[in-house]
Amino acid sequence: MSAFHNRTRRSPSIPRKLLREGKFYLVPLYYLLLTSDLASEGIRNSGSYRFADHIYAGKPGGKYLVGYLLDALFLRMKPARSFRARYLFAKDEILRFIRSKQADGPEIEILAVPCGLAREMFEAAQELRVGGHPLYEKTAWHGLDLDPELIARLSKRAEDSSHNMSFRCGDALLEGSYGRGYDIIISLGLGEFLDDAHLLEFYKLAHAHLKPGGVFVTSGIKSQRFSDYLLRNIGELHTYYRSATDLRAFANETGFKETRTYHDPTGLLTMMVAGDQFPLVSPEP
Ligand SMILES: C[S@@+](CC[C@H](N)C(=O)[O-])C[C@H]1O[C@@H](n2cnc3c(N)ncnc32)[C@H](O)[C@@H]1O
Repeated sequence: MSAFHNRTRRSPSIPRKLLREGKFYLVPLYYLLLTSDLASEGIRNSGSYRFADHIYAGKPGGKYLVGYLLDALFLRMKPARSFRARYLFAKDEILRFIRSKQADGPEIEILAVPCGLAREMFEAAQELRVGGHPLYEKTAWHGLDLDPELIARLSKRAEDSSHNMSFRCGDALLEGSYGRGYDIIISLGLGEFLDDAHLLEFYKLAHAHLKPGGVFVTSGIKSQRFSDYLLRNIGELHTYYRSATDLRAFANETGFKETRTYHDPTGLLTMMVAGDQFPLVSPEP
């Protein structure tokens, strides 16, 4: 059965859970955190696409001045900066890949899975269109996510934007959701919620659905003690932390022949590009 792997909260009431566990000192903090848009989204809906996109957008919001200030503080902290960097890196990888291709080459197919609000795709497509890039017209953008409401919203947005984008509802861990081969598969914000066995299964699906010369772009994050403590105890937001070595080991076990990894300036984030051809992405012309 399909599962929303990002929805990790189990307790109906966090304050009651904290009291049960004897962590009464965290209850006032819980109520304070609810004033920040980011923290309240994390507490209510765990690792939702709204939570992720609030960080990507980087615009503080909250109830009263205190909520706004708290939110601004969270967005400036290391883990949030790393988190934001992953969508910017993903967008760069897309643009770099497309710009490395010949204008008279075949159509380029890009998939984001799970797509969430697909910020990296909308921004990359817009940059290519505004810049008059010859491959803009030849690029097809696809998004896959398990949330039907989100898919309906994105389909409307794609229509309004008139980019060549299509979104569909499906389980990232099911073969039947993929349908075709892609030049780039981007995956942000799923691997962190998958245990090792599911992550391997997911990487295998991505590998099997890449066209020759295609690349899989994904990320992993290292733990930061303070934010991990808050996320686990107050948000019940449980994630798997993995290093570059871990991500590469999964890619190798999957059968990818080449991997390239790099970090954001804080060192918490690892981006990985995996494929079967070397070089993975040609340098920018
Ligand atoms: C943290 S968000 C990340 C979304 C997006 N990639 C981003 O970076 O903003 C997690 C997304 O995974 C989706 N999701 C969770 N389990 C899924 C599954 N089994 N198959 C497809 N999508 C899933 C959720 O609906 C949600 O949109």
